[in-house]
Amino acid sequence: MSNTNQGPVTVLGLGMMGAALASAFVKNGNPTTVWNRSAGKADALVEQGAVFAPDIKEAIAASPVVVVCVSTYEVLNELVAGAATELKGKVVVNLTSGTPDDARAFAAWAEQNGVRYLDGAIMAVPQMIGLPQALIFYAGSQELYGEHEELLKLLAGTNVYLGTDAGVPLVYDLGLLSLLWSSLAGYFHAVALVNSAGVSAEAFTPFALTWIEHVITPAIPPSAQEIDSSSFETEVSSLAVNKAAIEHLVATSKQLGINSDFSASIQALIERRVAQGHGTHSLASLVEAFKQG
Ligand SMILES: NC(=O)c1ccc[n+]([C@@H]2O[C@H](COP(=O)([O-])OP(=O)(O)OC[C@H]3O[C@@H](n4cnc5c(N)ncnc54)[C@H](OP(=O)(O)O)[C@@H]3O)[C@@H](O)[C@H]2O)c1
Repeated sequence: MSNTNQGPVTVLGLGMMGAALASAFVKNGNPTTVWNRSAGKADALVEQGAVFAPDIKEAIAASPVVVVCVSTYEVLNELVAGAATELKGKVVVNLTSGTPDDARAFAAWAEQNGVRYLDGAIMAVPQMIGLPQALIFYAGSQELYGEHEELLKLLAGTNVYLGTDAGVPLVYDLGLLSLLWSSLAGYFHAVALVNSAGVSAEAFTPFALTWIEHVITPAIPPSAQEIDSSSFETEVSSLAVNKAAIEHLVATSKQLGINSDFSASIQALIERRVAQGHGTHSLASLVEAFKQG
């Protein structure tokens, strides 16, 4: 069924995320068939109007579009290996997280088995599914994506098609997760430091937010320009200056008995770039240190 948001859908996997996806379809009035290894997780959805199929093959047969969201690609591969015949000719929208190569291998399997495949990476928590602020990256055949764009809009207000390479959504996913973990880890390290001086996290947080707003966020677009043009000369803050400052951070953390591994790994990257003769470059040139492995 082309470019409609009303058609029948099957959802395989009703964990926290899969249940939220299925619920978005049910709320829109799509005939929704659900399957999960532990049947009990379907109860709330069945009350809302979904149909539970106890057998995965029966669930797949019920709809032309099959949305899958299980814990890992290992699980996904195991499930589809037992249902290849039923999946032939179906559209599979896989929203399971993994590595880019997991997605590429699954795309190859889909092609070999006559399955029409879209890979997606969800940049949202289950509570955001269906809301404008939810973002999902997709890849696969552009024609297939176009055919199902309206249906996929039920899951997220922002959908971004990234081309035919099935691995690319997970590259974006991992990039954004790297940003999430490193920025939050920086905040947690900062709190451990200020706690050592008797300052609570809540007292410190307004300054952290101002710092993010006025120093960190504005530094990102110029960094992107510097990186894309490989032009790292700066009048703001050089690697040589940062090398001295991060020595204070690592030394103070150690002295206070606070774990300094996170800061020491950044320090090592800065030191390497300075040793390579790039002391006058901006922090953005650390991207080159990352690329050196
Ligand atoms: N939750 C989030 O905020 C979030 C955000 C973005 C992306 N994701 C991704 O979405 C996917 C699902 O996450 P989730 O939060 O829904 O996880 P979850 O609540 O732990 O659910 C995991 C799902 O996988 C199924 N499963 C696990 N092992 C299985 C097996 N051997 N055979 C059959 N089914 C199996 C579970 O079935 P049972 O119920 O029977 O155990 C359940 O349906 C993950 O790849 C996750 O990275 C999640």
